[in-house]
Amino acid sequence: MKVLNFGSLNIDFVYGVTHFVRGGETISSRNMEIFPGGKGLNQSIALAKSGVETWHAGAVGEDGEILLETMKEAGVHAELVSRLPGRTGHAIIQRDPSGQNCILLFGGTNQRNTKMRVDEVLEHFSEGDFLVLQNEINEIGYIMEKAHEKGMTIVLNPSPMDEKIETYPLDYVDYFLLNEVEAEELCGKRETDEELLQAVADRFPESRIVLTLGEKGSVYKDENEMIEQPIFRVPVVDTTAAGDTFTGFFIGGIMQGETPKEAMAHAAKASSIAVSRPGAAPSIPFRREL
Ligand code: RIB
Repeated sequence: MKVLNFGSLNIDFVYGVTHFVRGGETISSRNMEIFPGGKGLNQSIALAKSGVETWHAGAVGEDGEILLETMKEAGVHAELVSRLPGRTGHAIIQRDPSGQNCILLFGGTNQRNTKMRVDEVLEHFSEGDFLVLQNEINEIGYIMEKAHEKGMTIVLNPSPMDEKIETYPLDYVDYFLLNEVEAEELCGKRETDEELLQAVADRFPESRIVLTLGEKGSVYKDENEMIEQPIFRVPVVDTTAAGDTFTGFFIGGIMQGETPKEAMAHAAKASSIAVSRPGAAPSIPFRREL
């Protein structure tokens, strides 16, 4: 069994700031660093480092070679990534002194996948293989349709949330990994986290759901059980890719036969290590570090 992550690849430009810049304001940054990133790339690296055979598909431009190298070093198969003329996707990230961030995306080659390319990529996968998706590339609905026809297990992290999500065949999703804001966008606001989780479960009764709640940890729910997983408290350096690390280690754990409880605990540990280090992809630990 292997996993295909059809997802974004970004170059992250990370600016240290005293506060996030406001409308009409100009501020100077304290420093600037460049990291490999993109929710897709980060999740592929987390999947591979968790110990599963991971294939990444997507597209980079002329400036994207470094991203392919980064994935290969982490053990991700990058042969299915297209190389296109033009610019690779990038992210402008402001990081404040508490390690929180805000992110502006430029799609670049992440938005230039074609149906023909999707068909070519999916030829390499079959029933029982996992497909992991986020929402930073185009043609997601088509990828889901084709993967469903093949009997692949579909994982969706609907991030960043936008109006396109509702156009995808969401009933095909086997695992949702989403945060409170994304859950509210899908199911409407609720008074409590429990009600919100139940609302997602009611809307997608066939799916297994992981709701991440920031400082409050995360909750897993399927038709048989509910598992609450607190965070592991660490000094926070940079929260970028914490969610991606969680997703990669949770799904990687499930693929390797862990129970949802074990996979949740490992995912929480891995993401606590990631927030204690700077950058997106470089902050993701190997399984042995857990
Ligand atoms: O989840 C973090 C990622 O979001 C960053 O690496 C950035 O590229 C954006 O895609």
